[in-house]
Amino acid sequence: MQNFEQFIGSFSFDKRLGEVDIIASIAHTKMLMETSIINTNDGDKIIFGLNSILKDLQTGWSLPEEEDIHYALEKELIRRIGEVGGRMHTARSRNDQVATDLRMYVKQEINTIESIINKFQKILVRKAEENIDVVMPGFTHLQPAQPILAAHYLLAYAWMLDRDKQRLLDCYKRTNVLPLGSAALAGTSFPIDRNFTAKLLGFESVTENSLDAVSDRDFAIEFVFCMSMIALHLTRFCEEIILWMNPEFAYITLDDKFTSGSSIMPQKRNPDCAEVIRGKSGRVFGDLIALLTVVKSLPLAYNRDLQEDKSPVFDAFDSMRISLEVIVEMVESLKFVKENTRKSTEKGFIAATEIADYLTKQGMPFRTAHGIVKNIVLYCQKNNKTLNNLSFEEYNKFSCLFRQDIFEYLDAGNIANMKTSYGATSKKSITLQIQNIKRTLK
Ligand code: ARG
Repeated sequence: MQNFEQFIGSFSFDKRLGEVDIIASIAHTKMLMETSIINTNDGDKIIFGLNSILKDLQTGWSLPEEEDIHYALEKELIRRIGEVGGRMHTARSRNDQVATDLRMYVKQEINTIESIINKFQKILVRKAEENIDVVMPGFTHLQPAQPILAAHYLLAYAWMLDRDKQRLLDCYKRTNVLPLGSAALAGTSFPIDRNFTAKLLGFESVTENSLDAVSDRDFAIEFVFCMSMIALHLTRFCEEIILWMNPEFAYITLDDKFTSGSSIMPQKRNPDCAEVIRGKSGRVFGDLIALLTVVKSLPLAYNRDLQEDKSPVFDAFDSMRISLEVIVEMVESLKFVKENTRKSTEKGFIAATEIADYLTKQGMPFRTAHGIVKNIVLYCQKNNKTLNNLSFEEYNKFSCLFRQDIFEYLDAGNIANMKTSYGATSKKSITLQIQNIKRTLK
């Protein structure tokens, strides 16, 4: 025999909305008093009761279980202040109530995530400043492409996170609209003042259509999408941390506390934290699909399916909050091994493009220069040489446009620092980039 009540209930997971539910209920009660729908005496009792429950919840006390958090709070209120507690639910339904609670909760979550991202960006910027002289290979297709500064790489992630913050801010705008007062679906015949409640709760405006208001979960989907994009960005960073910790690269080191040993292979340091963060993306993407599917095909207005909206929102938030907190500390401990990144720039002929540009600047069409440098590289490969240890005579055999100064164009640091276009990898461009990103940071 199943426990059907528990099956249709949501208390086990929506008790998390307890605090916001009380805050929303206090505001609703104040509005009912303001509009004389209930008298001051009754209203004061309700607010007193709600505040006493809030205080107890904050000290770790648990509400007795009911079908959901809304019923549980109302029952507890009536238990504490008597039948008058039943006036609280005047001109309100659980449908507009839960939509309000979830919006309030998502607004808080947005603020929490935004502030951790901001912290993360600050660390990336500081690391960029500290590592401004570290040269490393930049990759395309994961093959050595052109030299870059490590600072440029770190800042790339800072800008990714800037877009994540902008997305959250945008989501916040649409979340910041109050559905309360839409009642079950049709609105109410009581003379309520929705704007009054909105002001008390810090909502920018009120919803325009009661049917839409109680059935809309777009804001929640958008929020989980925002979490998914953050998760995706973190997987890219973690992937590189994992790769660069590999002794074949040995570009970076992390504090030992972010890695673990193997139970069988004594030499191993595994990048577990980075791997777990990368793995969390699976849950968060799953949360997004879950939420989209819950809302898909639902007829207007409220349907009980919507109760399943909360777990994906909470799970995506929890996963990203902890992931961001961990990655912040992990990146704080990240150190570049300058000698190794530099050594790596000597492999893979990464000065090739610069040599082609050199010839182009001497007047040769770029495509012709590209062909010549391709032959130089083939020559090096055949004779087991690098672009650095070819002699001037050898260069001259390929083109008479080469001058002695060609050797300045072969140094990885020089090559990176010659990229002075806006948004490029030179120290000069990066200094400006750092100024620009700092302006976006709180
Ligand atoms: N526990 C429900 C939810 O989370 C609250 C709304 C219930 N409304 C209803 N008409 N049964 O969605």
